Amino acid sequence: MDGVTVIDHPLVQHKLTIMRNKETSTASFRRLLREISTLLCYEVTRNLDLTTIRIETPMEAMDSPVLEGKKLVFASILRAGNGLLEGMLDLVPAARVAHIGLYRDHETLQPVEYYFKAPEDLENRLVIVVDPMLATANSAIAAIEKLKERGAKNIRFLCLLAAPEGIERFRTAHPDVPVFTASIDRHLNDKGYIVPGLGDAGDRMYGTK
Ligand code: PRP
Ligand code: URA
Repeated sequence: MDGVTVIDHPLVQHKLTIMRNKETSTASFRRLLREISTLLCYEVTRNLDLTTIRIETPMEAMDSPVLEGKKLVFASILRAGNGLLEGMLDLVPAARVAHIGLYRDHETLQPVEYYFKAPEDLENRLVIVVDPMLATANSAIAAIEKLKERGAKNIRFLCLLAAPEGIERFRTAHPDVPVFTASIDRHLNDKGYIVPGLGDAGDRMYGTK
């Protein structure tokens, strides 16, 4: 699918299976999400541009590669996005962080915004938006609209599970934003949940149901 990368690394798929299992505890779910997010982060940053800096090893001087450009921004769609954010920050500790508070109204499935805080200078930075679930895509579409209003131009979206319906809507709304996911599941049910999915990601992370 154009603009969509499925991260099929065996470790990702193995951990995802344990997360999907309804018998998996809240503590294990949270730990696995943190572990899996480092693997997903590795893939979503795979083609970042490099430059070189001059350093001296104990043996000699050399031009050695470092990331080019300004620090990355990770934008977490609350609450569940924070489960991905933590592991990504383990890997890229200098990243800047944006928080976008959205929850789905259970009747309309429309996102309700309650918080937004982002670094001022989004324009010249790569912004990686993270949320474990892309279901109807209403939340991700709204979050990225907001980031674009604030100047973001170079954006990627990273999730754990996506529904085919959500991917189609997302790519229509934001064709310039590539999507990275560990799985494209079968479909959305009539309540807007991903099937087979893993249930409500926020509730499973925080034990709220
Ligand atoms: C979940 C999930 C996404 C959204 C996806 O959040 O983390 O943000 O649903 O659904 P959509 O693609 O249909 O918009 P939820 O609204 O349950 O809020 P929470 O993270 O606070 O639990
Ligand atoms: N949000 C979730 O947490 N799970 C779904 O299956 C759909 C939206």
